[in-house]
Amino acid sequence: AAPLAWRVTPSDHARSAEQRAAILGGELGFGNIFTDHMVAIEWDKARGWHDAQVRGYGPLSLDPAAAVLHYGQEIFEGIKAYRHADGSIWTFRPHANARRMQHSAARLALPQLPESEFVESLRQLIAIDHDWVPWAPETSLYFRPFMIATEAFLGVRAANTVSYLVIASPAGAYFSKGVAPVSIWLSQHYARAARGGTGAAKCGGNYAASLLPQQEARAQGCSQVLFLDPVEEKYLEELGGMNVFLVYKDGRIVTPELSGSILEGVTRSSILQLARDRGLRVEERKVSIDEWRDGVASGDIAEAFACGTAAVVTPIGELKGEGFSIGDINAPAGEVTMAIRKELTDIQYGRVPDRHGWLVKL
Ligand code: COI
Repeated sequence: AAPLAWRVTPSDHARSAEQRAAILGGELGFGNIFTDHMVAIEWDKARGWHDAQVRGYGPLSLDPAAAVLHYGQEIFEGIKAYRHADGSIWTFRPHANARRMQHSAARLALPQLPESEFVESLRQLIAIDHDWVPWAPETSLYFRPFMIATEAFLGVRAANTVSYLVIASPAGAYFSKGVAPVSIWLSQHYARAARGGTGAAKCGGNYAASLLPQQEARAQGCSQVLFLDPVEEKYLEELGGMNVFLVYKDGRIVTPELSGSILEGVTRSSILQLARDRGLRVEERKVSIDEWRDGVASGDIAEAFACGTAAVVTPIGELKGEGFSIGDINAPAGEVTMAIRKELTDIQYGRVPDRHGWLVKL
């Protein structure tokens, strides 16, 4: 298909340079602030993708019968733009996100957006909102591409009209304490996904299913929930919104294999590569909760961390569950965890050469 033609309508409500500077100079946190513009591309069964536009950020006009509001036919992505010291703006492995969104679309019976249009949509948004990419260390502009079923129809079938949208949010640390170690709560009552379900797709429903267990985690003083596999309820799957890694004292780094019910994180796969590069032995396999417990008790497991686009690499200080707690939340972050975090962010912020060719200039 020919590349889409883009229509750009600048916002009537864009904030002034002074307003923007005041916002970007404050505490950013995660997901609180949005830029002046957004992307929208429409799809329908007859015409395919059409009407690509950049317009002012603002509410959507949706029919109350829109299928997304009833049956959750929705997928999303998370990807960041990084400001380098020379002012240039780069993103990280966008084709991996584009392909993942295509896989998610296939599972949710949504249309696939071509990889090139996914990347172009990020470029279009940066072309107009580049001043919203923050300069402060460890900050970025978080893109949230998403796709929703807009057809007004209550019969249960794949919608014939769909919108793809991208919004962007200047972001600091996902966790309020920055890169300090976090506590994780093991959910023993709830599963995030099922065999043959949507666990490997990035769809809103998976995150909706994590909210109640996430509240339970919070009530226990933990900032994320860990889910076990839905079949044997024995093996680690992932956290509410990030993948998990264990680091052995003998130099092995272990993460749950892609079981079909966990999300294939772009950060996860980048860390596997960086770990191999530094000569660590990488294992993608089943990891049981007993292995984690026993490994920490014996001292064989030295570190654990969570990773994701939003979370980057966050040390896990302790794991708690009903009747047990392992690790020490007051212990300093692990050395391997912090070295990998530094290496990944050094690449993303252009502080070291990008030897894998992961960065794409926007
Ligand atoms: C991300 O890391 O980008 C995510 O999408 C996870 C979460 C914020 C939902």
